[in-house]
Parts: sequence; structure tokens; C-alpha cells
Amino acid sequence: MFLAVGVAQLVEHLVVAQVAVGSSPITHPIKKRGPLRRLASQWSLFLCARNRTKSSTVCSNPLCLIAVNKIYLDWGDDMENPTRTKIKELLAATQPSDTILLSGWVRTRRDAKNFSFMEVNDGSCLKNIQVIADENLANYEEIKKITTGSAVTVQGALVASPGKGQSWEVQAQKVILIDLAPEDYPLQKKRHSDEFLRTIAHLRPRTNKYGAAFRIRSEVAFAVHQFFRERGFRYIHTPIITGSDCEGAGELFQVTTLNMNEVPKNENKVDFQKDFFGTEANLTVSGQLAVEMFALSLGDVYTFGPTFRAENSNTRRHAAEFWMIEPEMAFCDLMGNMDLGEEMVKYLIDFVFTHCPDDIELFTRFVDKGLKQRLDNILNSEFIRLPYGEAVDILLKAKAKFEYPVAMGTDLQSEHERYLTEKHFQKPVTLYNYPKTIKPFYMRVNDDQETVAAMDLLVPGIGEIIGGSQREERLDVLEKRMADLELPKEQYGWYLDSRRYGSVPHSGFGMGFERVLMLLTGISNIRDVIAFPRTPGSIEF
Ligand code: 4AD
Ligand code: MG
Repeated sequence: MFLAVGVAQLVEHLVVAQVAVGSSPITHPIKKRGPLRRLASQWSLFLCARNRTKSSTVCSNPLCLIAVNKIYLDWGDDMENPTRTKIKELLAATQPSDTILLSGWVRTRRDAKNFSFMEVNDGSCLKNIQVIADENLANYEEIKKITTGSAVTVQGALVASPGKGQSWEVQAQKVILIDLAPEDYPLQKKRHSDEFLRTIAHLRPRTNKYGAAFRIRSEVAFAVHQFFRERGFRYIHTPIITGSDCEGAGELFQVTTLNMNEVPKNENKVDFQKDFFGTEANLTVSGQLAVEMFALSLGDVYTFGPTFRAENSNTRRHAAEFWMIEPEMAFCDLMGNMDLGEEMVKYLIDFVFTHCPDDIELFTRFVDKGLKQRLDNILNSEFIRLPYGEAVDILLKAKAKFEYPVAMGTDLQSEHERYLTEKHFQKPVTLYNYPKTIKPFYMRVNDDQETVAAMDLLVPGIGEIIGGSQREERLDVLEKRMADLELPKEQYGWYLDSRRYGSVPHSGFGMGFERVLMLLTGISNIRDVIAFPRTPGSIEF
């Protein structure tokens, strides 16, 4: 089915094609269609890519734009070979078309008297397109055997659909079965539990719910970059492998090339001098320390990448590998930091309302009935700002029964956070000025000497979504704090330099990307908003 050419023929074709497309704009001395033309367009794509990297100029070869979406099927010389159109575009068409080409996976197929109806989805959007294959098609017997999950390419006419809930359907002129899925395809048309779908995480993006979840994930990642770009922030790529423990909580995954069966020892301790980096290394728990250095040089910056925590907490909002968005701003205090956090939450909600309305509709109908209203409330509400001490007072007076006791000076549990945001205030709450004993070394010590300029933004349904602070910019105070916490000063020399040379007040925060996605989709388990979740005891995929 796919274009097959012998090596000698290939070389010959490439030479012809190269002559044809060697400089741009091109003129085509080769036949307008047929295998040679297809090969020429592939070859020209290759050349375009090569030219681009060489000279960084935008290629004006028209084939360069279309070849990506072309499916190289041997239609025979009598047939046009149209460019593949994504189903999202077909469904948004404003007029019918005589010849379109689509490819996708069959969600369902049913037979009528002289027809076979297929619902095809290509992942470009939630909706399927209906394809009608009539009995006159040459391979109709084959079409009647097409199963759920099979991959097909269809050439046909896009026509107005008389059916309810769809504006367009496709009258097939040709159906090519690319791969027939056997009957044991696990995603037959019925409702599957999230728990079951986690066991086939490699197939679950083919379901409506998970297709929508991962499309939204992609959109929101883009929105994050857009949010910062509109505000003049620079994107910094901070390292994944580090030598420091930003949060000081010791929840580190170690990185080593030492042979675990023959670990080199020195005075009965592991000799890390013999390790790859000559010292201990780990996967980063946060890009903050690194990105601070860039805030203190480029001004407003952010990092957005994977972070890792070896905390053994099997909850629905913790993962061992998750993505964190971390803005950092020079000349910014705690209040400015809170402003940015709130603005960002609202921006992302507004973005999905505008750009993913179908998906939000689906989540509201099938995942969380209160989703749309909750997001609407957040978008239109003024967030509460409350010092930690006042929050503890509220919790101590609360009538609710908590599993963990509340006590001044101790960290809040998820149940306490949720009580504040869901029950007491019924809107997002930013708590600030936490006791310094429960927060990391880099947070700025307040004048009371007891609290630090920390902030946590809590949202209904999840609890903490953002954690951040104004940073300690005073060298002497920072050094004292590190000494009190017995942090190895020699490892942080580079960090302390930033407080030696032109130190300024600065602030930043970390927003858990998966927690934002949970907020935006109503999906209640972090394992269901990340492609292949990593949690204690689970790394199958
Ligand atoms: O509050 P955290 O630990 O803050 C930091 O790491 C700071 N260094 C960030 C900064 O100031 N640049 O983590 C920030 C956010 C949390 O509010 C939460 O949303 C998310 O990261 N998070 C997790 N998400 C999923 N799984 C986990 N195990 C998470 N731990 C934190
Ligand atoms: Mg935190």
C-alpha cells in the first residue's frame, strides 16, 4: 500500500527531485502527480529542513508546508491525492467539498441495509466524524469487518449531515483499512473506570475523557507561556540534575552511575568522589534556586519543567514526577507575588473557557457537575488574603471534625486547607506569613523574627496549588538561617554570591501544573492528568 521503490530507482528519483526543488521558489519539471511527485515532495521537505538549519531562512517552497500532512498512499495515477484534513477542521467547514481525505481510528461501526456507518476520531478534537460507506465500494466486504479501534484512511465528499448534533458527514469514495484491531481491543464502547484505564495508560488517550484531558494539558501549557510572554518574562531552562536540595525536605531521588552491587567506600561511607559528578547528585525538587540567579540578572523570568519528589505519600494530589511552573521576579515583594499568582489562575481559567469550551462541557457533564460554576466563581471572585495565624484561629473555632489536630505553629493538612477554601470562604484563599520553623531556608524572615514572608494559594477541590515566598535577600540573615538549619554552606556558595553582589528584594512561587489541570478539568486524581504517572510502587509505562 505504501510507496515502494527499489534502491536504484530511489537514487534516480532523488537526483531528479533535487534538480526540481534545489532552489526556491521551485518550478516542477516532474509530472504533476504520481509516485515521483510524492517522493519529490518528501525530498523537498528534507531539503527545506536542511536549508533552514543551515541558513535560518524561511523556505518558500510550497511543498514544505503541505508535505507534513500528506499521507503517501498509492492511489493510482487516475486519482487525485488530496492532502489529509484533520477532523476538527472538517467539522468546522463552512462549505461542502467534493474531495477530502481523513485518517483516524474507528470508534464504532454499524451496518444498515445498503450502508456501513463509521464514527471516526483522529484525536484533533473531541467529536467524531460520521463516514458513510455504501455497498458499491469495491472493498465493501472488508469494510463490513472493520472493528472498533481499527485505523482507516477515507477519501470522500464532505456533505451536510441530516443527522442530529453534527453539521457534516463524509460520503466515502474510498476506504483504506490501515490496520484492523482485533476483537480483544480493550476500549470497546462502554464506560470504563478510571482505575481500569490507569492499567492501560498507553491506550487511555483514545477515550473521550483522556483525549480531552491531554488536549487541555497541551493548551494550558501553551497558555502558561503566553501568559508570561505577554508580561515580558523570559523562559529559563533550569537543570534537572542538581547538587542541592531546594526545599531542604530530603525527598530526593539520587542520581548515580555507581555500581550498586559494588559501591566504592571510604571509611565505611559511600565514596561519591568516584561517582559521575565527583559528588552526590539528585533530580531537582524545584528549579527555584537556579531561576533566582536569572531573576537577578534578566529581571522577570520563569522556569517550567519536570520536578521530582521521593515523598512516600500515596494521595490523589501527589506524584513523584510532576511539572512545576516557577516565576521569579526581581524588585518584587510578597504582595506583588500574590498578585501574579491570582492573575495567573484567572488567566488560565479564562483561557480554557475561550479555547476549550467543548472539553470543559464534557468534563462538566461527565466528570464534575459543579466544574463550570466553580471555575466561573473563581474567575469572578476577589481572592481572600489571610495571615497564617488568623487561619489557624478560624480552624480552631471550626465545628468540623478533622483527622489531624490543628495547632498554632504546625503545618496545615490538606483537610484544613480545603475547609478554609471550600467551606469557610468558598473561594480561593492566599495564606501568608507562616511560622519560619515549617518553611525552607530561603524565605524572608519577617520583622517579628518568628514568621517568614511565605504564601500558599488554596483553591476549592484541591487545597494548595501555589507555594511561594519573598526571598531572603540579606546575606547575614540568610547565612544565619542556613547555619541554624545546618545546611552545608560550601554547596550553596554560588547561591550566596547573588546576595553578595547587588542583592535586591525578589519573590517567586511554584505552581503545580497537574494541580492546575485538576482544577481546570474537575479530574480528582493527579494520576489522570499526567500521561504516565509515577507514584510509589508504580512505574509500569
Ligand atoms: O510548595 P512547593 O514545595 O514549593 C516549591 O518547591 C518552591 N521552591 C517553589 C518556588 O517558590 N519556586 O511546591 C510548589 C507547588 C505546590 O504548591 C504544588 O502545587 C506542587 O508544586 N507540588 C506537587 N504537585 C504534585 N505532586 C507533588 N508531590 C507536589 N509537590 C508540590
Ligand atoms: Mg508547598
